[in-house]
Amino acid sequence: MTNGRATATAHANIALVKYWGKRDERLLLPEAGSLSVALDKLLTTTTVELGVARDELLLDGKPARATELAKARALLDAAGIGGKARIESRNDFPTAAGLASSASGFAALAVAACAAAGQQRSVQELSALARLGSGSATRSVPGGWAVWQDEAAEQVHPPEHWPLSLVVAVCAAGQKDVGSRDGMRSSRESSPFHSAWIQQCRRDLPRALELLAARDLEGLGALAERNALRMHADALAAEPPLLYWEPATIACLRTLAALRAQGVSAWPTIDAGPHVVALCRPEQASAVADALGAIAGVRETMICAPAGGARVVDTR
Ligand code: DP6
Repeated sequence: MTNGRATATAHANIALVKYWGKRDERLLLPEAGSLSVALDKLLTTTTVELGVARDELLLDGKPARATELAKARALLDAAGIGGKARIESRNDFPTAAGLASSASGFAALAVAACAAAGQQRSVQELSALARLGSGSATRSVPGGWAVWQDEAAEQVHPPEHWPLSLVVAVCAAGQKDVGSRDGMRSSRESSPFHSAWIQQCRRDLPRALELLAARDLEGLGALAERNALRMHADALAAEPPLLYWEPATIACLRTLAALRAQGVSAWPTIDAGPHVVALCRPEQASAVADALGAIAGVRETMICAPAGGARVVDTR
């Protein structure tokens, strides 16, 4: 049994071609490939200490729910770490608004746990391990512009490939009612649009990669907006319906459309929640953030840039 300790960091990511449907619920394998970019300001720092008396998971200083602890345990077991672990995870997010932290959380956990156990693992292996905590975490391990289709994700371009700005508009406080895990299962099982959605993702990913390689903001932005709205159309058609939006979410979509009509290239995407993330050029990011920040119901805006992958920052 090891008694090691290590700390790792990882960034959350926003998907431009979304993962919304599993072909294997147990192994968390996606029905279609997805593309994301890691966000520099959404950082999680996780410390894993092995050789303790009992398993414990603290999120921002508070004991996590049993389901979260069970996911962390499954990840450690898959890594061959049988001994008990104390896991302490902190989100450096400048908000408490329930922004997606499972991606950065499980990516940082996989990297910290393996380092604490003295294991040398490739980025690919660490990405596959993070997947067992949460699908989107698979992409936060390599970071940068990342594609995930099977067991592991890979970085298809480093963050420097395209210094876009990603303006996050926080459109609600607190946790959403239906998490991604249940929402995606329900969409797959009950939405009549689900298979069309998956077919569309399979067409969107290769096209998105061409547009990303060419740094075509209008092309990739429009594709990302369509992809996100189609994911929400799938969710809205589930039984019972899944409506993740708030009035401020729709106001953000309209404001971005108005900005585009004035020549500002700013394009929305929305994960399984109310928050909007706008892709735009860095020189126009403050104007976009000001416009979104002025909307009633938008609590806060953050201008992010593409970030790198998960890494060990301390082994003491
Ligand atoms: C809408 O990775 O949170 O953000 O794999 O069940 O843990 P589980 O789900 P999760 O789902 C993310 C869904 C999404 C789209 C995306 O990030 O691609």
